[in-house]
Amino acid sequence: MHTAKAREVIDVCGDLAACTEEPGFTTRTFLSEPMREVHSRLRGWMQRIGMSTSIDPAGNLRGVYDGATPAAPRLFIGSHLDTVPHAGRFDGVLGVVAGIALIDLLAGRRFPFSIEVVGFSEEEGVRFGVPFIGSRALAGTFDETLLRRPDPAGRTVREAILDYGLDPTLVEQAVAPEASVGYLEIHIEQGPVLDVLGLPLGVVETIAGQTRANVRFAGAANHAGTTPMEGRHDALAGAAAWILEVERLAKSTPGLVATVGRIDVEPGASNAVPGSCLASLDVRHADDWARRAAVDRLKARAEEIAAARGLLAACDVMLDQAATPMDGPLTGILAQAVERSGAFVHRMASGAGHDAMVLAERLPTAMLFLRSPGGLSHHPDEAVLESDVAAAIGAGMEFFEGLARSRSWPTS
Ligand code: HGY
Ligand code: MN
Ligand code: MN
Repeated sequence: MHTAKAREVIDVCGDLAACTEEPGFTTRTFLSEPMREVHSRLRGWMQRIGMSTSIDPAGNLRGVYDGATPAAPRLFIGSHLDTVPHAGRFDGVLGVVAGIALIDLLAGRRFPFSIEVVGFSEEEGVRFGVPFIGSRALAGTFDETLLRRPDPAGRTVREAILDYGLDPTLVEQAVAPEASVGYLEIHIEQGPVLDVLGLPLGVVETIAGQTRANVRFAGAANHAGTTPMEGRHDALAGAAAWILEVERLAKSTPGLVATVGRIDVEPGASNAVPGSCLASLDVRHADDWARRAAVDRLKARAEEIAAARGLLAACDVMLDQAATPMDGPLTGILAQAVERSGAFVHRMASGAGHDAMVLAERLPTAMLFLRSPGGLSHHPDEAVLESDVAAAIGAGMEFFEGLARSRSWPTS
């Protein structure tokens, strides 16, 4: 069942991976030129199968498949089209492509709800350091101050939207109607749980919370050959001591993961004592209290380490996203759909963040995971099994049926 469609989904994801800012890798950030090509290819497919398409003012690709009646409320299906640097082919993209494939399989059949497939413009937080720009626009939680945030090249979110030919003053037009049916996200697990259990699918119950911050260590730059080791104020050495503290705390705290994934050093020459070091910090835990306590501890340690080395440390928290439970009834319909499609229902938590955690602030939200072979993600070798994609498509089709049966709908 659905093997041919699954193959098509995988092939389309493979083709889209070639839309990149960095030849030889897949790197596609918010409203970059390669995103234009992704939009154009997916719009073509959507239009061929009878969907009306648009790009909203936050840069999200939107495709609407009408319901049986004009009053039909809307079900959203989606995920993100941006990627991390050197990404795989499936993180985010799979959920959008699978959503379109589901509509394609309906072959014109209508439900008492309309279905809108959304390809979110930004979820990873790569270009501006803040994730979920696209989904915030739909959820109605897009903070206008975000428009002023610059990327490393000094271009702001506002300018990026304008550069793409969109109008940043209209972002509020992207908001999903509150009376919508809900949001379904299909996504790879990005971890080892389903692979270890030998299961194709997982039903997400909750998404771990996350904090994203930048910690700047400020010292004094000077000549590497003439400045004695005593009395240096080496910002990178201070950051390095702190990074090991981050690892130590996470290793000794059950359920905590913490990562410094990026450092920027100034002046950044092999023969200059580093005067400044900006380190990113990503902290996650299923329990918000444990996560926030860890962040407080790491801030305090940064200040202590800095003080002991004659440096200054300053922490800029850019995201404090609470752990998010999925909607009980919609998740129930999804679990039943997985069962009816013949797959085992495994309920699980998500360690990765998803657009679903933002949409959940506005709409009932459910998430379906596909096994990640080897638990590998944010890596060029990220993979899916064709049979798992077929299973997800089967569950998606059952989800439509189950949703249609689940309540009485407007009849005109
Ligand atoms: O970073 C994350 O959790 C996700 O992959 N966006
Ligand atoms: Mn990701
Ligand atoms: Mn993702």
